[in-house]
Amino acid sequence: MPRAADLVFPRRERVEDRRRDAGQRKLLDEFFDHGTLLAVSRLANQGLFDVVDHPISSGKEGGVFRASKGTEFRAVKIYRISNTVFRHLPPYALDELRREASARNYGGLVFAWTRREHTILGRLTDAGVRVPRPIGHYRNVLVMEYIGTAEGAAPRLKDVPVDDPATLYEQLVGEFGRMIRQARLVHGDLSPYNTLYHDGHVVVIDVAQSVRAEHPEARRLLERDLQNFSRFLGRLGYDVEPAEFLRAVGGETVGPPHEGA
Ligand SMILES: Nc1ncnc2c1ncn2[C@@H]1O[C@H](COP(=O)(O)OP(=O)(O)O)[C@@H](O)[C@H]1O
Ligand SMILES: [Mg+2]
Repeated sequence: MPRAADLVFPRRERVEDRRRDAGQRKLLDEFFDHGTLLAVSRLANQGLFDVVDHPISSGKEGGVFRASKGTEFRAVKIYRISNTVFRHLPPYALDELRREASARNYGGLVFAWTRREHTILGRLTDAGVRVPRPIGHYRNVLVMEYIGTAEGAAPRLKDVPVDDPATLYEQLVGEFGRMIRQARLVHGDLSPYNTLYHDGHVVVIDVAQSVRAEHPEARRLLERDLQNFSRFLGRLGYDVEPAEFLRAVGGETVGPPHEGA
């Protein structure tokens, strides 16, 4: 059995690329503490992937890495065990998570958050929404479908030249509509940053903060999500009426059930 540390960044693709090596060394120290390495090796032993190849993205709350399994790829998202995930959460979301986690420390909350992202990805996949299919999770490590090619991970929508905004709008309405009508979830952090573009189609990511469509905050969050995209579409020269966008995705069914209804 390979040592846990050998599962991460094992291949030096180009020996001369020392700068990248140094960068990866830093990420190795930042993300792969002892507990995380053990979680990674447990998931590898379960056969979810062979090795973690290289970083795709690293942020304050966590990092996303490409992993390989044979000739296939996986995406591995690792949350930092710290309070940074929760610093930006509105109080309603944190309360909900605390109830779910029954945890008093950040570790427990981060594990619950990771599990939550996995569960929501599953629910969205079942509803036919184009998201990365969840593959497994353990502690602060989430394994999911890799969106991209051997050449690289799919770009974010905000970095893609869009020549047909009408088709993009149709795709967005399709995905957000299934999210609301079939999965009964509102994403809550939708933007061209949390949307990838792959094979001519949008793929929604970063779903952990999603709330049920009946949640008291759901309507406000949905309107904000749609506004982010209206602005984006507007900059592409495609103007959408907010009321029309809301109606198209089934937004009138979002919000707390009426008293006595
Ligand atoms: N399944 C995936 N396949 C390929 N790249 C991904 C995948 N999930 C995330 N990424 C990349 O990692 C970045 C960060 O992921 P995200 O889930 O948005 O985490 P956060 O915003 O919390 O750091 C994305 O912008 C994208 O570039
Ligand atoms: Mg994100």
